[in-house]
Amino acid sequence: MTEVLTADENGVARAAHLLCDGALVAFGTETVYGLGGDATNAEAVAAIFQAKGRPRFNPLIAHYASVDEAVRHVQADDRALSVAQRFWPGPLTLVLPRRTGCPVALLASAGLESLAVRVPGHPVAQALLRRVGRPIAAPSANRSGAVSPTTARHVMDGLAGRIAAVLDSGPCAVGVESTVLDLTGEHPVLLRPGGVSIEDLAALLGPIGRGLPPASEATGLRSPGMLASHYAPVLPVRLNAVAAAEDEVLLAFGPPLPGTRCVFQLSAGQSVIEAASRLFEGMRWLDAEGRQTGARRIAVMPIPATGLGLAIADRLQRAAAPRGTA
Ligand code: TXA
Ligand code: MG
Repeated sequence: MTEVLTADENGVARAAHLLCDGALVAFGTETVYGLGGDATNAEAVAAIFQAKGRPRFNPLIAHYASVDEAVRHVQADDRALSVAQRFWPGPLTLVLPRRTGCPVALLASAGLESLAVRVPGHPVAQALLRRVGRPIAAPSANRSGAVSPTTARHVMDGLAGRIAAVLDSGPCAVGVESTVLDLTGEHPVLLRPGGVSIEDLAALLGPIGRGLPPASEATGLRSPGMLASHYAPVLPVRLNAVAAAEDEVLLAFGPPLPGTRCVFQLSAGQSVIEAASRLFEGMRWLDAEGRQTGARRIAVMPIPATGLGLAIADRLQRAAAPRGTA
């Protein structure tokens, strides 16, 4: 049962309590309703993908109560600080390099070195963020492929029974998503037009490119969603391993295969939600450990491709694909 919470003090307190507990709560912003989860809790972030039915891991926006809090988790240069001061709180999302030690789950970045951050202007979203005291990861609160919701009713139509609650703050004023601006490279790049106009951004930053983010130009990827394939481990990846060799490191799902020295357990109890939440961390860790100890390959145990397992399979197939074709 999904609770519909009135956006008063009690409702905000209840929503904050649920979020801190790892549950999912949809909430209104000035743009569209977001499907929120504690951004620092990898399992909550994985559950967001599950609830949306996303077939693969698209990076998510981390929402913050203030500019100060947002720039603590990313590397904001002078350009970023000037747009942040001018347009936050508001319908703008900035893609910036993650800071070392950034506590936001790697899954929210879908394995990228960057993080999308936004300070929403809606007073209820602000109150919720302040009460939670941590960043909230939130894509638009619709099932994958459906239209973004601008009322609590829209959210319920798509997600009733799949999330703990929706905080009803009435219809969204802007009604389209935030503008997504990539500032990871030398030149600013518009990844998605939205609530803040490109003209207003250009007035502050000068000419703004459109389309591919800097990181994907090098790899030839076409859309932000495809950026999920940007990170591939250095070691080759072997899928559906039913036996493991001594010179392999193992990404385990359930009781590990015998014969390997180095194992990263995705989920001892074989939960795809837990596995998704640990996937990027596991690949990075095995890649580093394996290279240090002279291993030749990462073997991956079979994971059922149902529910969130499909997104895991998609990501693993990209990692295992012949290099240069991702
Ligand atoms: O207005 C909005 O932005 C709403 C409210 C809830 O804040 N959120 C929203 O999230 O529209 P979502 O997940 O539906 O769209 C986020 C967009 C996607 O196109 C995603 O690919 C891109 O931002 N994005 C997120 N992180 C990124 C990153 N690290 N690099 C490049 N693109 C990123
Ligand atoms: Mg969306």
